[in-house]
Amino acid sequence: MRKKTFFKDLKVLLGVTGGIACYKAAELARCLVKLGADVQVVMTSAASAFIAPITFQALTGRTVKRELLDENSESGMGHIALSKWSDLILIAPCTANTMAQFSTGACPDLLTTIWLGAKCPKVIAPAMNQAMWKNEITQRNYNELKRCGIFFCDPEYGEQACGDVGPGRMMSPDKILELLSKNFLINKSLDRQILITAGPTIEPIDPARFISNRSSGKTGYAFASVAAKLGAKVVMVSGPTSISPPLGVETFNVMTAEEMNKKVQSLLTQNRFDIFIGVAAVADLRPLKISKSKIKKSELISKSLKWCRNEDVIANVAKSNFRPSLVVGFSAETEEVEVNARKKLTEKGLDFICANSIKNGNVFGSDMTELMLLGKNQKVVFNHTSKESVAFAILNEIEQYLQGAKNW
Ligand code: CTP
Repeated sequence: MRKKTFFKDLKVLLGVTGGIACYKAAELARCLVKLGADVQVVMTSAASAFIAPITFQALTGRTVKRELLDENSESGMGHIALSKWSDLILIAPCTANTMAQFSTGACPDLLTTIWLGAKCPKVIAPAMNQAMWKNEITQRNYNELKRCGIFFCDPEYGEQACGDVGPGRMMSPDKILELLSKNFLINKSLDRQILITAGPTIEPIDPARFISNRSSGKTGYAFASVAAKLGAKVVMVSGPTSISPPLGVETFNVMTAEEMNKKVQSLLTQNRFDIFIGVAAVADLRPLKISKSKIKKSELISKSLKWCRNEDVIANVAKSNFRPSLVVGFSAETEEVEVNARKKLTEKGLDFICANSIKNGNVFGSDMTELMLLGKNQKVVFNHTSKESVAFAILNEIEQYLQGAKNW
């Protein structure tokens, strides 16, 4: 991981919300600028009651943004442009109110609207009175946001401005920056070569018919896109999908499991991949013979099709002489989700497996997912989280494992 490039040229949107800890946000902005980041501050109206926007303007060299409907912004759509501009959104300090808005998706002002539209990694450094922090509703919002893949710089314990003692003080700027550079992969910090399979495969029966499955390709494409944004060199072998290949990802399109297996094997001989992620829903069977002419419906039953097993693409990767250091599989199950996924982990010779429950059918085609990341001894559960956020969190976990920073 290229730590030296960590904050250099990183576009950080620093969201400042209304609390006495606003003075620490000025120090945070100054440190980020010193580390080479390009910092755009967005303030809520309550924040401007605690600190003047001109302070941040002087520290960052950029005019502070505060209005949702800004006549001076391009086509009056400043929030969308800012969502797209950001490599990282850091909210410090974040009040209980703003956390509640983030967790429900309410967006009454510029900052919450940017948050909702942004796909980049997001970090929250809460700051509030200890009773407000401990309140069940705030804790529910905290857990909900964590489940959505949001990274937290947890508040510290100590004396508060109001005289109370307890948890709720904003983490110091130094610690926030240290935590981010230790635990977070941001902007070109994933220095890996990654091979990914995605989508379904299609197995033709005759010129009119095929068998396939309900995979949309969204999870595989999310992994490819997030990995590429993090700076990895990504190659993807994809079955037929209706999604455009992500920018910066070298994509090879295939139709059948046989084609996918061949393409993956030939790419592996380049002996350059650190990580293989098998997200594709590869068809397990194919017709023994593909009929050149359309089989008449009257013959479909009487002819009774003969089937043969497809190669197991990921098992072949795991036992290849060119095996990447890390092989990560997926597992789609309706029953005994964890037990069956663990079986596949062992039998296919994988390092990690992501166990997807497809029981209620709402994972296929959706932008959201629910899965467990299983290593040999441990697991992490992601409940109803966007496929991008899951990809980001999982890439973080496996990178830390590869660096020996975490046991699994
Ligand atoms: N896989 C593969 N080649 C196959 C079948 C599956 O590479 N012919 C990979 C998938 O990409 C996934 C993992 O194996 O990473 C598990 O796939 P899954 O469909 O959940 O399980 P199967 O191995 O097909 O077993 P079963 O259908 O019995 O659950």
